[in-house]
Amino acid sequence: MCCTRMSMMNHICTALLFTAFAQSPKDANYDESKVGNYTLPDPLKLHNGQAVTAADIWRAQRRPELLRLFATHMYGNSAPKPAKIEYEVTTRAAKALGGAGMRREITVWLTGKRPGPSMQLLVLLPAAAKGPSPVFLGPNFGGNHAISADPGITLAKSWLRPGKGVENNRATKDGRGGEASRWQAEMVLKQGYALATIHYSEIFPDHKDGLGDSIIPKLYRDGQTSQEPDDWGAIGAWAWALSRALDYIEKDKDLDARRVAVLGHSRLGKTSLWAGAQDERFSIVISNDSGEGGAALARRNFGETVERINTSFPWWFNANFKSYNKRVEHLPFDQHMLLALIAPRPLYVASAQEDLWADPRGEFLAAKAADPVYRMLGTDGLPAKEMPSVNQPVHGTIGYHMRSGKHDVTAYDWEQYLAFARKHWGR
Ligand code: GCU
Repeated sequence: MCCTRMSMMNHICTALLFTAFAQSPKDANYDESKVGNYTLPDPLKLHNGQAVTAADIWRAQRRPELLRLFATHMYGNSAPKPAKIEYEVTTRAAKALGGAGMRREITVWLTGKRPGPSMQLLVLLPAAAKGPSPVFLGPNFGGNHAISADPGITLAKSWLRPGKGVENNRATKDGRGGEASRWQAEMVLKQGYALATIHYSEIFPDHKDGLGDSIIPKLYRDGQTSQEPDDWGAIGAWAWALSRALDYIEKDKDLDARRVAVLGHSRLGKTSLWAGAQDERFSIVISNDSGEGGAALARRNFGETVERINTSFPWWFNANFKSYNKRVEHLPFDQHMLLALIAPRPLYVASAQEDLWADPRGEFLAAKAADPVYRMLGTDGLPAKEMPSVNQPVHGTIGYHMRSGKHDVTAYDWEQYLAFARKHWGR
């Protein structure tokens, strides 16, 4: 109302508007001395206070308890796995990427029924494979065609994020290869791995009104018409779809379903962590610059905060999570426990030095705080006492590096992931 009164007031309105958007990346806290004191909940203590002293207590009690807590208070409860998998291989090309690989495109019907909602899975396989190939699987932002300039990849038809769409993509006019530097397909294939991807938008268009066009209402329980406070949001849906892609991988004899690494960048790194935490079929889990709501500790006031992420992206998490905006210390977990849910499977957390919004130190500290669970389960955890210097990767069962540069996925990151996979999977 004040805005309509007189022009003098416009100044005040502008100022108020600015305050409403305060705590943007620009004016968040980036001062280590202002992070505040916090106490992390102990991953090796049951909610009732009992110590988790052995692997069987972890498996039978603490792991299910933590999964329930994360689902209830943050990512939401997902729909169950469809009763059966329904898919069709629509492209089977013996030559892709100029001969470096083979291409497969698969329609996966998400409710297990056709016709029905579906997603397109793209799989690039190494041309020289001598047996089932281990797979790197992740969701993409710009459509399957954005991960490589290979002209045979079907162009995405679903909603494209502004700035990520065909009209704006960098590589070619139609957007082919717009994200190629983030996927390094040639490098991955050359080392004998397959690369598989889905377009996240087909599962949940990433905007505030995306729910209606997402998979979520299509999987409502009998009689359900709206979201419950502990129901899944976009991250839950994207993570669930990665498990549906894995259902297909299990059916393809040219792919090694026991060696599938799930990975993602940024919001999709949050997604790969939640997918890997829930679905133990993922044998390696990789988080690239996942930050708040991903690998970074929520209790540290550094870079993005719980309140900020819930305000900017309310559709990513469930409604219950919003109640922690101003009382993050009451969360019954912190993100090190999400990382611990991946134990004892290999986990890689990667940060970028200039990506302060994602809190690189908070990501390292979470990985470090997951280490006791990894060790209790008989692995070497994260073999680093202090945060490693820039570009000094540490590869234990937990891997960590902080790359120089900004928020992105680069060839350097991929070199580390491939070396980490070789270490854990063998050649
Ligand atoms: C925003 C958001 C982050 C997210 C990132 C991304 O910066 O605040 O939480 O990781 O977008 O997904 O690119």
